[in-house]
Amino acid sequence: MNAYINTVQTNDLTRTFGDFTAVNKVNFYIPKGEIFGLLGPNGAGKTTTIRMLCGIIAPTSGEASVLGFNIKKDASDIKKNIGYMSQRFSLYDDLTATENLSFYSSIYGVHNGDRKKRIQNLIDQSGLRGYENELTRSLSGAWRQRLALACAIAHKPPMLFLDEATAGVDPVSRREFWDLIYEMAGEGTSILATTHYMDEAEYCNTIGMMYEGELVALASPDTLKDGLPGILLQVSTSDPLAAESVAEKVAGVTDAALHGVRLHVAMRNENVIPALKAAFQQAQIQFSDMEIIQPSLEDVFISMVEERLQKNGSQKKGER
Ligand SMILES: Nc1ncnc2c1ncn2[C@@H]1O[C@H](COP(=O)(O)OP(=O)(O)O)[C@@H](O)[C@H]1O
Ligand SMILES: [Mg+2]
Repeated sequence: MNAYINTVQTNDLTRTFGDFTAVNKVNFYIPKGEIFGLLGPNGAGKTTTIRMLCGIIAPTSGEASVLGFNIKKDASDIKKNIGYMSQRFSLYDDLTATENLSFYSSIYGVHNGDRKKRIQNLIDQSGLRGYENELTRSLSGAWRQRLALACAIAHKPPMLFLDEATAGVDPVSRREFWDLIYEMAGEGTSILATTHYMDEAEYCNTIGMMYEGELVALASPDTLKDGLPGILLQVSTSDPLAAESVAEKVAGVTDAALHGVRLHVAMRNENVIPALKAAFQQAQIQFSDMEIIQPSLEDVFISMVEERLQKNGSQKKGER
């Protein structure tokens, strides 16, 4: 077996398409049994990163290893030893759940003698018992997703890539899906997951936030939230839109953003609160509640992106 310290290790991983850079000098690593979350808006470069790590496309420059295999030289070894599941997983609708599992087990080279037992294990592990003889086309989205995961791990891969695997699934099913992922990580499987859903990011040991091809932040969810400078105030008001435009102009306020019906105001420190209250009073904005809250990963992400845009802006000015 191949010796390795980290299941995934990248070194300035870069991919361009023509003169467009989709992934720009990305560096991170995933220790064995850890869940690494790659977050970022559409087009950030998440899927391109995964495709390079799975050996599907080659990097333009930089290096990476997966399970100790080099992504350029050993792509076929990587493909055999990883699991991969995306939003558009392909299950055969005309087959039953068991038949799909049997099909994927044979594709992934699960030994004939072990196949029956492995399929029974997968059915139990993924909670598909009772549905195993249903035609796949009659399964709901959430059950199909569980079946797809079971198919993707038929060969017990030590590394699993999940690319938007929970997209379009209801919150309860997403939670149950993550319970399965957690169990797998507990048994030593390393996982790289991309997601839009910030609540899912909380399940990850480490988060990489991607924006325009670059990794703009890399840390645990708590470290990211604790690292946000200043404090965050949540305000309940009958007119959040007006409150937002008033708050933005108060000295010491670094950002004001609507979160549903509430307003989140980021500020340098607590000393800014009286000025904010005074500004609301002057503008005759009623607020029922004001409390200091822990920032969410969404707040962190917005702050990282703004910081990056400011930096890029000042670089451009410097170029002139
Ligand atoms: N084969 C390709 N040819 C040209 N551009 C591509 C190709 N694949 C991806 N891109 C571009 O690279 C950028 C990153 O895409 P992608 O990695 O799919 O982002 P994400 O998964 O974060 O949404 C996008 O602007 C996308 O249009
Ligand atoms: Mg993608």
